[in-house]
Amino acid sequence: MDKIEQIKSVFHDELAACSTIAAVQELKVKYLGKTGELTGLLKSIKDLSAEERPSFGAKVNELRNLMEAVLAEKLDELKVAELQRRLQEERIDVSLTATKPWGALHPVTLIQNEITELMVAMGFEVLSGPEIETDYYNFQALNIPEDHPARDMQDTFYITDSILLRTQTSAMQARLMEKKKPPIKVICPGKVFRSDSDASHSPVFHQIEGLVVDKNITLCDLKGTLEYIAARMFGENTKVRFRPSFFPFTEPSVEVDVTCSNCGGKGCSLCKGTGWIELLGAGMVNPCVLENCGIDSKKYNGFAFGIGMDRFAMIKYGIPDIRLLFENDQRFLKQFGK
Ligand code: PHE
Repeated sequence: MDKIEQIKSVFHDELAACSTIAAVQELKVKYLGKTGELTGLLKSIKDLSAEERPSFGAKVNELRNLMEAVLAEKLDELKVAELQRRLQEERIDVSLTATKPWGALHPVTLIQNEITELMVAMGFEVLSGPEIETDYYNFQALNIPEDHPARDMQDTFYITDSILLRTQTSAMQARLMEKKKPPIKVICPGKVFRSDSDASHSPVFHQIEGLVVDKNITLCDLKGTLEYIAARMFGENTKVRFRPSFFPFTEPSVEVDVTCSNCGGKGCSLCKGTGWIELLGAGMVNPCVLENCGIDSKKYNGFAFGIGMDRFAMIKYGIPDIRLLFENDQRFLKQFGK
């Protein structure tokens, strides 16, 4: 009987010292488990006399019931405390303002949107075409036969002998004129590809093709259109200059420069001291191209131009390296974000 009292008192002390659920569970095993103290006590009943056994057994059972009850109570207490602690720790303040997810239009998209808006206001249609193109539309229909040296102007990614990644949005000219007859007034923005990579060349870049075909179109119409675009994109005081150039699909062909938006024409590092920045290629649609598409070149003529949108973005935003446009570094992109 003393032993029972002793176990009971040690048990109470040990229980009082338990501060975690795990410790209470351990204590339960220590006293009530298969090899626990109380189980051991019950086993010792065989050493007692027949008269002593009932009262001893009853006492041990009483203690077992007591232990079970207080252990359960202690576990409940600790579980409630644990829940309180978690509620406190994991509390979410639903009244806090959320952090805004960040997103902004890419500088090339900004340029494309701006130019498209201008052109649509002047009555141009907007069309897009395939990036994987046939040799025919990218070259042959544009008066660039196989083995023509003009193909060297554009380092081409070929997929097969006759299929390639388009090197210019000019590929849309013949596609379009085969289907649509004059008057034609369209722009075709899109990606183009050339095997070239340095600070001013990227293997993928963006152009907007402009094409006008109608009666009595002149170089003055081309110049007026490009002057308007330049003034709207780079400021009213921007001057435009045409230099003779060569493209097999335009005749005459011109290279178009604008006064440097950075120095206003005085000369700086952006324009390499010349005061001018080369902007795009353009010209009067070569009659061969019209005829290739079944348009009577005696009745109709037209102009075409190809704007490099990446170049526009670099000039407009003072971006020194074209590759920045393709790295998607948020530190760069955030400067244009709203
Ligand atoms: N396609 C030419 C290029 O990528 C640009 C161009 C377009 C020139 C239309 C003339 C007319 O270099």
